[in-house]
Amino acid sequence: MSARPEKQAPPDIFYNETEARKYTTSSRIIEIQAKLTERALELLALPDDGIPKVLLDIGCGSGLSGETISENGHHWIGFDISPSMLDVALEREVEDDLLLSDIGQGLCLRPGTVDGAISISAVQWLCNADKSCNEPRMRLKAFFGSLYKCLSRGARAVLQFYPENPAQLEMITSAAMRCGFSGGLVVDYPHSTRAKKYFLCLICGPPSVNTTLPKAKGEEGGSETDDNSDDEENSTVGFSERCRPRKKLKVSKKGKAREWVLKKKEHRRIKGYSVPQDTKYTARKRKARF
Ligand SMILES: C[S@@+](CC[C@H](N)C(=O)[O-])C[C@H]1O[C@@H](n2cnc3c(N)ncnc32)[C@H](O)[C@@H]1O
Repeated sequence: MSARPEKQAPPDIFYNETEARKYTTSSRIIEIQAKLTERALELLALPDDGIPKVLLDIGCGSGLSGETISENGHHWIGFDISPSMLDVALEREVEDDLLLSDIGQGLCLRPGTVDGAISISAVQWLCNADKSCNEPRMRLKAFFGSLYKCLSRGARAVLQFYPENPAQLEMITSAAMRCGFSGGLVVDYPHSTRAKKYFLCLICGPPSVNTTLPKAKGEEGGSETDDNSDDEENSTVGFSERCRPRKKLKVSKKGKAREWVLKKKEHRRIKGYSVPQDTKYTARKRKARF
């Protein structure tokens, strides 16, 4: 079995000119990415009002996923770190906007301006640190924090990705929750090893009574390609509560400051310095001066 692409090289190196062309001309990949994007758009559940929406395609690559967004009548802004993938997208004359950008450093967009977002097969790349300064948790925080800010209230983001293991899945979902998203995980074909697909369905803001998570496909054991029924995983899991980190409890420092000053003064006296006498005013908290 070949190693995962994320293990081989950073994304902008892995998706070089050769790989970008190979990726974009493979009929198998074209078909898979189109199917995944259709499913992500279904889970995005945009209002059926006939008005085209502005969506983000995060890790848009050469525009395969974006093409399906266009076919569904929406506009999109694509973010990608690989210049070669974006060059191929330009050659293919995709109709929408492309930004060469590392999503691990955040999305630089105005707050509340976007109607929804999808990401197809890209987010797992954030979990691989190619340099020690690229700490995955910090990159996930920057990504989800900026995604939360640029989405309009109540808007959704559907991210399909390939977690390497349960710990990575947990790291990604909890990073999203910490940034304020509600929603949950939809796992299509949970009993199939090959057809199993993870969709993180995020809602910008707290859960409301009317928002129910869509049902996963193939829960009954039916699958697109193969079957492996020893998998007992629950296929639609909502976040039970928003999980912002609790504010740290303030430890009372009353008396500690005075103690520290007295000790310091004593120390200086021992050293032979002239030190003012200790009084009831020593180390008192001063009022702010205006
Ligand atoms: C498997 S391709 C998917 C492309 C496209 N979504 C599709 O469906 O064809 C994954 C893409 O994610 C991009 N990517 C990986 N890490 C990224 C990052 N940190 N910032 C932006 N794009 C990234 C890669 O350059 C690559 O184009």
